[in-house]
Amino acid sequence: MTAAGLPLVNEPVVTTFEPAVPKDPANPGEPKPIHPTLPPPLGLLAELTHRCPLGCPYCSNPLALDRRDVELDTNTWVRVFNEGAQLGVMQVHLSGGEPGARRDLVEIVGSAHTANLYTNLITSGVGITAHTLRDLWEAGLDHVQVSIQDSDAISSDHIAGYRGAFQRKIALAKEVVRLGLPLTINAVVHRANIARIGEMVDLAVALRAKRVELAHVQYYGWALKNRAALMPSREQVDRAIALLDELRRRHKDEIVIDAVVPDYYARFPKPCIGGWGRRSLNVTPSGRVLPCHAAESIPGLEFWNVRDHSLGEIWTSSPAFNAFRGTAFLPEPCASCERREIDFGGCRCQAFALTGDARATDPVCHLSPQHALVAELAAMQEDSPYSYRRM
Ligand code: SF4
Ligand code: FES
Repeated sequence: MTAAGLPLVNEPVVTTFEPAVPKDPANPGEPKPIHPTLPPPLGLLAELTHRCPLGCPYCSNPLALDRRDVELDTNTWVRVFNEGAQLGVMQVHLSGGEPGARRDLVEIVGSAHTANLYTNLITSGVGITAHTLRDLWEAGLDHVQVSIQDSDAISSDHIAGYRGAFQRKIALAKEVVRLGLPLTINAVVHRANIARIGEMVDLAVALRAKRVELAHVQYYGWALKNRAALMPSREQVDRAIALLDELRRRHKDEIVIDAVVPDYYARFPKPCIGGWGRRSLNVTPSGRVLPCHAAESIPGLEFWNVRDHSLGEIWTSSPAFNAFRGTAFLPEPCASCERREIDFGGCRCQAFALTGDARATDPVCHLSPQHALVAELAAMQEDSPYSYRRM
């Protein structure tokens, strides 16, 4: 911990689910190395749709959302999962938007399961009925992550921009546990709810979740638009971090608590997505393949689409994936810093958002020549109304 009470490094939530190995011992589906030096990706984020009944002001989807009529069809997703498994992907995170908006969700889950992928459904809890959940479970779903906006129902509904959402989330979370599926509760933390992280953990424990993720807002997309309204004060962050230690001690036998502190109050940046093009890929609803969910915010990158290329070709040869691979592109102070293979100079999207240069040292790093900017932006806090995410 620093003198200010903040951890030295803002570690990202790295959620690994068990088992992270092919599930059928008779058909291990061992991937063939696709490139002599490039390791395979481990995770695939499948953004099945941008449609969502909620309007969270920190949504990680881009401001320009994909419409329904450009979404990939079922057969293309089936092909993507098979290509992913061949490439070495072990886990598929089925996300959105709200994946429950897809009428073919059960078929999609079944095809990922058949491809020997560990399937994690990331849902708002609104749009999936108990009946659908049971069908998903029968189709091979392995894990469910339900988001909450707060432990307080009125505040949660206000943040989600949807009345009654909280009760539906709780009902779905109970149903997940009743079916015997492992449950993670995910709460995005910001100024309006940071004082209730203890209550959010209590709620996750009461729901018998195995894990709770308290991830501070990452300021891209809609969250960047709402940054001043979401930004906590340093005092709030210090209190939350102190409480986190106590919560981990108190609940150590009951639940795993993952936490991400706000970038803007950290001394070192996070190794965003474990390094650009190193561990994972995102497929958008219309099939563009991105190194991270916010990559489209960086102008000039060329993204390849699964309609035109195989996932393997994209992983090895897509211009966007190769744009910031490794550390050779990094300027000083990263170029001669001993942490460059640990954090890869931080987040490319944040470097671009704050400096206009995606190759720059992430200004979150206290060694960045532009670090003062981060403190200035953190101090810009406003109790203004949210700009809700809408299609
Ligand atoms: Fe990381 Fe660059 Fe900062 Fe070193 S100077 S800690 S590599 S961001
Ligand atoms: Fe894109 Fe961090 S969100 S590299």
